[in-house]
Amino acid sequence: MIIAIDGPAASGKGTLSRRLAEHFELRHLDTGLTYRAVAAALLAKGMPLGDEAIAIEIARNLDLGHMDKSLLSAHEIGEVASRVAVLGGLREELVRLQREFANKPPGAVLDGRDIGTVVCQNAEVKLFVTASSEARAHRRTDEMRSKGIEAEFADVLEDLKRRDLRDSQRTIAPMKQAEDAHLLDTTEMDIETAFQAAVDIISKARDTM
Ligand code: DC
Repeated sequence: MIIAIDGPAASGKGTLSRRLAEHFELRHLDTGLTYRAVAAALLAKGMPLGDEAIAIEIARNLDLGHMDKSLLSAHEIGEVASRVAVLGGLREELVRLQREFANKPPGAVLDGRDIGTVVCQNAEVKLFVTASSEARAHRRTDEMRSKGIEAEFADVLEDLKRRDLRDSQRTIAPMKQAEDAHLLDTTEMDIETAFQAAVDIISKARDTM
């Protein structure tokens, strides 16, 4: 079984995906980390962000099992990831790796922006997880502060909006709800309620498989 989960930054799709993978005993890939890993390597090498040949080379050598989430979660890396994510050739290379991961038994939960529309179009269940930009900015601000990082709500909100716009307006594989995806709006939900709602949707879909 493959479960595709898409949605904007700070929608809660990451936590949700990890918990769903545990619950349904599937492997999990946060595809945002693949874009972040390439962004971090470009930054570390001091390479221009638009250098697609180098970005592709980095992607070819990426080891999905060894992406350090704590290093890659930095806010600035997310911003750079969103900028390199417009490169078509790089996306092709990363999508190849992501599909390879998805197709190994017993299946997987993948989360990102284009999983239901591009990477795993045949996924058995697709969710589009969203929340108002204000709710997402509140969650992100709290999360940053809890890690001891200074954060202003207004700045976080502006950053999120800019990133959503870039991710949803790019020409190649923009963030979009797939036609056959279930919409899960978590604006008024805590993580537990969102998790239960997602489990219900997936269990129903699985029973009709
Ligand atoms: O989900 P995230 O914040 O870790 O993702 C970082 C950036 O990577 C995001 O702003 C756009 C890009 N991305 C993408 O283009 N396609 C994906 N499937 C996942 C992430």
